[in-house]
Amino acid sequence: MKIKRNNGKIDVAVLGATGVVGQVFLHMLSHHKWFELSMITGSEVRANKTYCNEVRWVLPEPIPEPVKDIKLDKIDINLLKEKGIRIVFSALPADIARSVEPELRENGIYVFSNASAMRYESHVPILIPEVNPGALENIKQQGFPTKGFVVTNANCSTTGLAVVLAPLKTFGIKEMFVSTYQSVSGAGYPGLPAMDIMGNTIPYIQKEEEKMKVELKKILQLDAAVYPHCVRIPVLFGHLETVWIHIEKPVEKEDILETWRSFKFQGSQCPTLPEQPVVYMDDERFPQPKMSFWGLPAGMQVFTGRLRKEEDKIGFTLLVNNLVRGAAGGSIANAEFFISRQEREGREEKKV
Ligand SMILES: NC(=O)c1ccc[n+]([C@@H]2O[C@H](COP(=O)([O-])OP(=O)(O)OC[C@H]3O[C@@H](n4cnc5c(N)ncnc54)[C@H](OP(=O)(O)O)[C@@H]3O)[C@@H](O)[C@H]2O)c1
Repeated sequence: MKIKRNNGKIDVAVLGATGVVGQVFLHMLSHHKWFELSMITGSEVRANKTYCNEVRWVLPEPIPEPVKDIKLDKIDINLLKEKGIRIVFSALPADIARSVEPELRENGIYVFSNASAMRYESHVPILIPEVNPGALENIKQQGFPTKGFVVTNANCSTTGLAVVLAPLKTFGIKEMFVSTYQSVSGAGYPGLPAMDIMGNTIPYIQKEEEKMKVELKKILQLDAAVYPHCVRIPVLFGHLETVWIHIEKPVEKEDILETWRSFKFQGSQCPTLPEQPVVYMDDERFPQPKMSFWGLPAGMQVFTGRLRKEEDKIGFTLLVNNLVRGAAGGSIANAEFFISRQEREGREEKKV
């Protein structure tokens, strides 16, 4: 796989760079150790226009200097090829992704996508490297290495839950009851009208509960029943979730805490993946969405708190940064993980 530049970096593109997730991609890629941001797109009408003049920047950090003056391109496979780009991050709306992503795959491009369009296809992994690293193998069923592939990350609220539940599977999860308190950035830009959400909560998010059920099963290979309630709240960033799980084996609170503490991501130098994916907060008032961190590793960590036990049920809260861990950061981590696996396999082949 010859996809590196002379400076050792890999050229990448971001599709949907003007959207909320796209902005986080640019924030995270503008100084990335492995990746060089070489192409960005918005919708076609923005082609050839300068990024900072087109974007409605919503992040609490300024637009990174290296990307301010980049010209937006159209989604164009020939241009990707001309620029030598094999890795593409997609932050496209699902209906656009549904036609664009398979075409990119056919043309040998490695797509790391946030869109839900391809998530439910059997050979398309919903990858979280700390949780289901083996799912990456499915890219071979898509035709890799002869062709490209699509690797997706989970829906934002599902990601937080999957990371926290993965190490608890060992206790036997029978069923779970989840309520989400989801920020408005989860709906993209411009998202909900202020008149609908200011001073209000909306007890319905289209397709969110269905996504959580299906995706948790696919990622965790878990047969447990999932009973979600997904609610939109007037907060900008970060999704809070309250969870009760019904557990088969007798466990104490300390067992759960120790399981989260000893859950580490090992065996890779991926710059975006934190060694400690779950962080428990002792103070009962936390975690809170206003502390949805942006830096690394914190934006990629899932915070838990308020751990309780009642009979055979365990209750807790969790906080996931929907745009970092639950979207752009998740895709970047997936691409890093893919590269680290390719390099490892390359080294092993050389030894043989
Ligand atoms: N927000 C989250 O927390 C979150 C979390 C996980 C996954 N996701 C998924 O990630 C994707 C992006 O979400 P978002 O929240 O960033 O959405 P968004 O703010 O609406 O951004 C959509 C992006 O796609 C571009 N786009 C729209 N129509 C297009 C077209 N016809 N052709 C090419 N580009 C087009 C937009 O460009 P213009 O600015 O030019 O219109 C914009 O850059 C979605 O599939 C979403 O479901 C979002």
